[in-house]
Amino acid sequence: MNQEKVIVLDFGGQYNQLIARRVRECSVYCEVHPHYLSVDKIREMSPKGIILTGGPNSAYLEDSPSCSREIFELGVPVLGICYGSQVMAHLLGGSVKTAPVSEFGKTDVKVDTASELFEGVQEHTVCWMSHTDYIEKTPAGFQVTGQTPSCPVAAMECPQRGLYAVQFHPEVMHTVQGQTMLLNFVHHICGCSGDWKMDSFVEKTIQEIREKIGNGKVLCALSGGVDSSVAAVMLAKAVGKQLTCVFVDHGLLRKNEGDEVEAVFGPDGPYDLHFIRVNAQERFYARLKGVTEPEQKRKIIGEEFIRVFEEEAKKIGAVDYLVQGTIYPDVIESGLGKSATIKSHHNVGGLPDCVDFKEIVEPLRLLFKDEVRQAGRELGIPENLVSRQPFPGPGLGIRIIGEVTQEKVRIVQDADAIYREEIAAAGLAGEISQYFAALTNMRSVGVMGDGRTYDYAVALRAVTTTDFMTAECAQIPFEVLQKVMNRVVNEVKGVNRVVYDLTSKPPGTIEFE
Ligand code: XMP
Repeated sequence: MNQEKVIVLDFGGQYNQLIARRVRECSVYCEVHPHYLSVDKIREMSPKGIILTGGPNSAYLEDSPSCSREIFELGVPVLGICYGSQVMAHLLGGSVKTAPVSEFGKTDVKVDTASELFEGVQEHTVCWMSHTDYIEKTPAGFQVTGQTPSCPVAAMECPQRGLYAVQFHPEVMHTVQGQTMLLNFVHHICGCSGDWKMDSFVEKTIQEIREKIGNGKVLCALSGGVDSSVAAVMLAKAVGKQLTCVFVDHGLLRKNEGDEVEAVFGPDGPYDLHFIRVNAQERFYARLKGVTEPEQKRKIIGEEFIRVFEEEAKKIGAVDYLVQGTIYPDVIESGLGKSATIKSHHNVGGLPDCVDFKEIVEPLRLLFKDEVRQAGRELGIPENLVSRQPFPGPGLGIRIIGEVTQEKVRIVQDADAIYREEIAAAGLAGEISQYFAALTNMRSVGVMGDGRTYDYAVALRAVTTTDFMTAECAQIPFEVLQKVMNRVVNEVKGVNRVVYDLTSKPPGTIEFE
């Protein structure tokens, strides 16, 4: 795709994806790459601008993440943010030190409004700071364009070389005029025309897919989640009946989910594609019988999924292309892939080995999650599908602690449906990142209608998070929780106790297994 782009080099800060998001809000396409991306690769991409992100390290330490000094000689404007500003100062001969006074949170800053970066910004403005080091001395040729009482170089620049740096975070909303600064950088300093739009992206991608695939046969594993649904609809619009979607119902979906997916993608839905629903519930339950260990459950579900998918693919015969709903954060995660394995995660089991195909098509690999949803809306996919919460590949299999049985699936499906209904009724759905019911393997004594019960406890989970790597327990009003508890114990047979999980991540994880 030959579009104007700005690239973000990631030094490990928390707001890196947000920077890319904000640049896209300026209608400029933006990608995040690791800080060690080679200068040759950068040249190949011909970006209109480069942004260096924040990060937790000290730029002057030898083993801290850095980038090549050559980046500043490419003739491409560079904006350093927080740690990125210190990397710029350090590499170009300025000095970075531990600040006598650290700054965290909202801070008054005075900026030089004659700077192109601060055009339209108030001279005295509020910005978001989060630093313990600071630029003590600017590199030769740079001038200071922003200060706070504790930070003598809150912004610096060398406009002749297109180099700009801010100690604060323009990407977070607490920096009240941060978006103006980013807009100034990408439009005025980098000279981007700002012609990137989601609907043009959708149209262009469909056109490109059509040209690429020609008369080829395409296969898609549809999970009913947002990513694979949006990818499937794009393909359906591009090549219609050349696409076959295989939807494996493993019996571990949320209540009515299988039917909802079929209503959209099946023969009565709006799309002209081949849809195969495989009702494989019994197979999965049989393989999960007696298995209690979480990783083993995940592996079994992943393997069985692939087996079912392959069987169906073989019936279809040789396919030319396999569609994957990979989105940008997946690309980045697998690209860096350095963190310890806490759980064998994400897409169920990976790619099947023996499906015979020529190439993989990933129409969403440039998009972030909320942009995928936006693309889904552009494509006319129903809102209940587009705004669906993340749902793990192993499904309810990892929300039932211990052995999975059909009866336990019924309990957790019913409890979860009530929980979701009440959250929606209380108008809280948009405020919580992920919420669901899980079934503990604890049974306890209760009393109902003068009789003794000995039933299961359902755990309610709700978290707020931006990246799903860390999360806080959501503060749901007590009355809402109480209502859910009442309905679950009254309406779901086999449950006599409801608990609310207060644990953050870390130390907990979002899912229970
Ligand atoms: P955890 O439990 O690791 O979850 O805090 C973080 C996010 O990832 C989702 N998740 C999965 N997604 N396959 C997936 O596709 C999996 O095996 C899986 N396990 C967890 C989880 O729902 C949350 O959004």
